[in-house]
Amino acid sequence: MENEIRSDIIIFGASGDLAIRKLMPALYHLLQGKHIGDDTRIIAVSRDKISQDEYCALIEEKFKSSFKEKMFDTEVFEAFKSRLYYLIIDLTNEESYKSLHDLLQGHEEKERINYLSTAPSLYGTICKSLDKSGLILPTSRVVLEKPIGNDLKSSQVINDEVSKYFRESAIFRIDHYLGKDTVQNILALRFSNMLFAPIWNSLYIDHIQITVAESVGLEGRWGYYNNYGAMRDMVQNHLLQLLCLITMEPPSSLNGDNVRDEKLKVIRSLRYIEGEDLRLKTVRGQYASGVSAQKAVVGYLEEDGGNSNSDTETFVAIRADIDNWRWNGVPIYLRTGKRMREKYSEIVIDFKDVPHSIFPKGGLCIDSNKLVIRLQPDESISLFIMNKIPGLNEGMRLQKVKLDLNVAAGAARTPDAYEHLLLDVVRNNPTLFMRRDEVEAAWVWADKILDGWKNNTITPKPYAAGSDGPSASIALIERDGRSWYEK
Ligand code: BG6
Repeated sequence: MENEIRSDIIIFGASGDLAIRKLMPALYHLLQGKHIGDDTRIIAVSRDKISQDEYCALIEEKFKSSFKEKMFDTEVFEAFKSRLYYLIIDLTNEESYKSLHDLLQGHEEKERINYLSTAPSLYGTICKSLDKSGLILPTSRVVLEKPIGNDLKSSQVINDEVSKYFRESAIFRIDHYLGKDTVQNILALRFSNMLFAPIWNSLYIDHIQITVAESVGLEGRWGYYNNYGAMRDMVQNHLLQLLCLITMEPPSSLNGDNVRDEKLKVIRSLRYIEGEDLRLKTVRGQYASGVSAQKAVVGYLEEDGGNSNSDTETFVAIRADIDNWRWNGVPIYLRTGKRMREKYSEIVIDFKDVPHSIFPKGGLCIDSNKLVIRLQPDESISLFIMNKIPGLNEGMRLQKVKLDLNVAAGAARTPDAYEHLLLDVVRNNPTLFMRRDEVEAAWVWADKILDGWKNNTITPKPYAAGSDGPSASIALIERDGRSWYEK
C-alpha cells in the first residue's frame, strides 16, 4: 500500500544493538512494503566516529546475515541507503546538534519522529537539547524505549523531564510485545466474536497462566541487566501488558485512550503482594551453570562482566490476583526467565471442570478445557476439548483433542513487532503505546514486590540453565492444586 505520509525519522543511539538489530531492519521492511512515503528520511544519530559509508556497510552486513532467504533485495537496499543520513553527535553537548539542525532545516512540513534508543538517563537531556536547538515542532513526536526508570520515582523523573518538551499525546512509550501480531490477535479473539465473551470470567475460568521463557542468557548485557533483573526487565512491562489484554473489559473503541483506560483499570486492580504473601506468591530465581541447546553454559554469576555477589533475579514466578468482579478468585500465574529449557511465550486460559461428570470413571479422566495462545516462536491459538474415542469398544471413553487456529498460515512473513509500532508512530496512532499513568501504575504494583524482596532479604533461588526454573516455582502453583501447562 502506498503511503504518502512524509516523515523524518531520527534514531538516537543508532549504533546500539536495538537500532541495528530491530529498528533499521523494520524501517527497511516498511520501505520495501511501500508503507512509508517516498520522501521519508532516516537520520541515524550516534556518537561513534564512523563515516556514513561505514555505517551503511555495517547495516548491510547485518541485514544480509540476519534476513531470511530472499528478503534482502539490493534494489530496495539502495533506495534505503539513499534515504539514510548518518550524523555523529555527542548527545550531551548542545552544540553538537548543529548538524541535525542543518539537515532538518527546510523540512518543517514533515512529521518529525524522534526515536530515543539510548540509555533512559539521556532522555531528558536529548529533549532539552532538541528544544534549545529549535528542533521540536508542534507535530514532533518522541518515542521512548523501555525501561522507563527502575522504579516509580525514577520513572516519574524521566516522564517529568520529557513532558517539559512534549505533550503526552506526542509521547510514544514502546512495549514491543504490543507490536506482536499474535498479541494484537488477543483483541480480535476476545472482541470480534461472541464465542468467548460470555464465559470470560470467574464463573467459567479457573485460572490463567502467562509464560515468557527465554533460552538465551545475558548476551553481553550484564551491565544493563544486573541493575534491572527479570521483574523490571520483563514483568513490569511485557507480562503486565499481556495480562491486561487478556483480562481488561471490552473498550468502547480501539481508540488509544479507550484501550489504555481499560488496561489501567486492570493494573490498578492488581492486589499488592506484601508480607507473608511475598514468600507464598512470588519466586525469584537465578540461573546456575547447565546445558542450553546441547551446549554447556555458565551460570549468571560467571557471565562476561559479571560479579559473584549479585543477587539479581533472572527468573520470576508470581501468583497475581485481580480484585474486581470479573476476576474474583481467578489467579493469574506469571512466569518468565532467562536460560530456560526453550524459548516460548504462551498464555493458557484454563476453564473450570464440569460441575458433575456423567462419563464413566477409568481411562482418561475429563481434563479441563484449555485455550492456549502461543505468541512465539510459532504463533497459534488452540482450544483443547474432550472428544469421544471413536470405535465400538471404547464405550464413552474420552480423549483430549486440539482445535487449531493457525494464525500465521498463508502469511509470507510475519512482520516484526517494531515494524507495526514504527508504522503506528508514523500514522500517529497511540493505541499500542503506554500512557504515563499506565507505566506508573505498573511501577506501583511492581515496587511493592521489589521493596518486599529487599526488605525481607528474599534472595533468588538457583536453577540449572536449560531447566524450567527453580522448583519453588512449581511449588507456587501446586500449592493451589494446579500445575504449569506442558505441551
Ligand atoms: C526485552 C528485554 O524487552 O525483551 C530482553 O529487555 C528480552 O531482556 C526481550 O530478551 C525479549 O523479547 P522477545 O521479543 O525476544 O520475546
